[in-house]
Amino acid sequence: MIKKIKTHQLTPGMYVHDLNCSWGVHPLFPIRFKVMDEIKVEEIHALGVRELYIDTRRGKGVADAPDTREISEAVEQELLDLAASLPTGTEPRVSLREEAPGAARLHAEASRSVNRLMADIRLGQQGALEDLDSAVDAIAESVLRNSNALNGLGLIKTKDGYTFLHSVSVGALLATFCNALSLSKDITRQATLGGLLHDVGKMKVPDDILNKPGRLSADEFEIMKDHVRHGQEVLQQLSSLSPYALDISLHHHERFDGSGYPSGLKGGAISPLGQMAAIVDVYDAITSTRVYHEPMSPAEAIRKIQEWSKFHFNEELVRHFIRSIGIYPVGSLVVLESGLIGVVVEHNAHNTLRPVVWIAYDTRARAEVSSPYDLDLSRALGNGGGDRITGYETDDKWGIRARRSVFNEQLH
Ligand SMILES: [Fe+2]
Repeated sequence: MIKKIKTHQLTPGMYVHDLNCSWGVHPLFPIRFKVMDEIKVEEIHALGVRELYIDTRRGKGVADAPDTREISEAVEQELLDLAASLPTGTEPRVSLREEAPGAARLHAEASRSVNRLMADIRLGQQGALEDLDSAVDAIAESVLRNSNALNGLGLIKTKDGYTFLHSVSVGALLATFCNALSLSKDITRQATLGGLLHDVGKMKVPDDILNKPGRLSADEFEIMKDHVRHGQEVLQQLSSLSPYALDISLHHHERFDGSGYPSGLKGGAISPLGQMAAIVDVYDAITSTRVYHEPMSPAEAIRKIQEWSKFHFNEELVRHFIRSIGIYPVGSLVVLESGLIGVVVEHNAHNTLRPVVWIAYDTRARAEVSSPYDLDLSRALGNGGGDRITGYETDDKWGIRARRSVFNEQLH
């Protein structure tokens, strides 16, 4: 049985199933392991982990600890309450189909620009910030027209290009987040630029550590963490850079409860855009394929972020982030009451529980749908008007290669 406990309840003899930390998989620890001694317990405390999951079949248990079903039901209820209480967002200005081709082009161009800048920095050159100006404007405008296109494309990443593709995704998600908070055009622009630049310091991290396929040693992890300080050094040389973009780079690994790095800042000591970047950075990292983990479904990632918001993030900002991309964000594989299964292709700004779903599989017929189609769950009448989402699945279940095939088909 998998149970959730407070870290102070952890004792030697327990079997850790999941450290439940907002790094996804912690680079210093195996995914699952038995706690053999007090030293390990202390190390886990030192990570800033407040709650974690243990497997009581493989080690000692704790009386009355909630199991995973109880935890996920509680998180689901929190999200339903959030959906009911949220103000409605802004309607996209154009359809996804109209926005998709241009978004695909600008995504490719922005990725190339960030890649070029990062390659310059790796070679010890300063890098030209002006190259990013047009990418920043294009991202901010595309997200205003219809954020589903860029945020959907952002899920498609190759392992090799992770650092710069992640930077483009963080830029687009921050632009989406700023719009949901009705921030000014100028701050949205600076936040987008900060997203594109937040990890430039990684170019000063040796390649064998940056792309190490396994766990890092404690020393290697310290070198990896130094990317934040390296980023500051690089960015401070760029005279035209705004303090907002610097804040994002400096604060994106700080955590609201003080458990982050490099400074262990708490709460309001972390800049607001830094607090937003922390949420967005984690969301994009855990939904991406990495050398050491498989991607999490966007719907599952939202639930983890909600769960972690108690300690690691600003809870109010998490609410707004979820409002900006939905309880079932673009790319989520969802199951409908009717037995149909599909992938969310458009977030519904007026009702986050009723997005547009690309229907690809019918569980009643146990077969793929011969001609997949878009089903708008917000429609009162017509094809599936009464249907609703009852749950979500992992990406590759049901033979639907959700992200790649669906987004390639939808967006091109
Ligand atoms: Fe980072």
